[in-house]
Amino acid sequence: MQVQAKRLSTISSAVFFELNQLKLEVAKNGMPVIDLGIGSPDIPPADHVRAAFVEALHDPSIFRYATTEGSEEFRHTAAAFLHERYGVMVDAQTELLTVMGAQDALSHISLAVVDPGDIILIPDPCYPIYEVTALLAGAIPYRMPLREEHDFLPDLTAIPADVLRKAKLMILNYPSNPLTALASASFFSEVVEFALRHDLLVLHDAAYIELTFDGKQSPSFLATPGAKEVGIELHSLSKTFNFAGPRLAFAAGNKDMLQALRIVKSNIDYGVFRATQHAGTVALRDHPETHITHIRSLYQTRRDAFMNPLRQAGWDLYPSEATMFVWLKTPSHMTSRDFAKHLLQTTGVACVPGVGFGEEGEHHVRFALVQPDHILTAAANHMIAAFQ
Ligand SMILES: Cc1ncc(COP(=O)(O)O)c(C=O)c1O
Repeated sequence: MQVQAKRLSTISSAVFFELNQLKLEVAKNGMPVIDLGIGSPDIPPADHVRAAFVEALHDPSIFRYATTEGSEEFRHTAAAFLHERYGVMVDAQTELLTVMGAQDALSHISLAVVDPGDIILIPDPCYPIYEVTALLAGAIPYRMPLREEHDFLPDLTAIPADVLRKAKLMILNYPSNPLTALASASFFSEVVEFALRHDLLVLHDAAYIELTFDGKQSPSFLATPGAKEVGIELHSLSKTFNFAGPRLAFAAGNKDMLQALRIVKSNIDYGVFRATQHAGTVALRDHPETHITHIRSLYQTRRDAFMNPLRQAGWDLYPSEATMFVWLKTPSHMTSRDFAKHLLQTTGVACVPGVGFGEEGEHHVRFALVQPDHILTAAANHMIAAFQ
């Protein structure tokens, strides 16, 4: 008897599995590993956010089931945050839904809005769940290449007409993981117009919207006129507020999409732990700009600590103006897997092979800036030595 459902055979995490195994082997052989693989923040939330978490735990009723849509307190605070930071107005009852991290919304949106056989347009390279969500729902992912010559934006005019006829949803993500690229407000206007013309829904994953450097800003998709007619945007607390473990994000925008997502989730989960929502409320409400200025400067300094030695050694680098990652071309057109393996085995530095994000990611690797400056500089110097 075949235990695994057939749909699982279409989902592959082979690259990540292989590298994780190798990481364990390298560590077992005594080489210290500098892990720049997964983008899990290495620092805790701000003190006042942690204090709010602890305080919430003293309330004996906090351990009860929560509700799918999230507390009034969190939803109203999230709506006010969107308004203050991006000028976006949403109704906290119907146009905003609390989710267990952006991953929750991404993995369930396909069950909520697409039918088997529908097409979901996804970027290539992209965060792997975009493809997986389509496959889990029996939908067909169609990859839109993101290339340097097109500013790492999808060329909407290149999507074939027969694909568009079957497409129901487009997923976008700026600032982009893994590309670190930004999108402009005018690109988002083009997307809204395109979605209206072709009867498409849009999900914009804004997980890194606040992590921009060198004075750059990332616009909110929802600030685009007409955006709420076609789409939703995901805002995660994981990276901006170092809140990855507690699992908290919100989806805002189109109320019909959110209602569909609410129906799916209300049959699956009981919402986010209320202590988490309370601490998240404090993070979004109490001077978030102070923390955001701090976190931007932290990652910008880390980026420079990693990239400056490489730049000085003559490596060809993208500017890396956002996110907590560095996306790098492999030297001499090495495959991303070979590069990652060689680097790990010879220096202990772990990164993610770009092919794990899609074919367009081949000949690239991604580094997560989740170590202090001096370790990042050491990792860069190890790389220079390993590939000269
Ligand atoms: C682009 C992108 N979206 C979503 C997520 C997941 O975010 P969350 O922790 O809110 O589920 C990640 C995590 O790395 C990500 O890179």
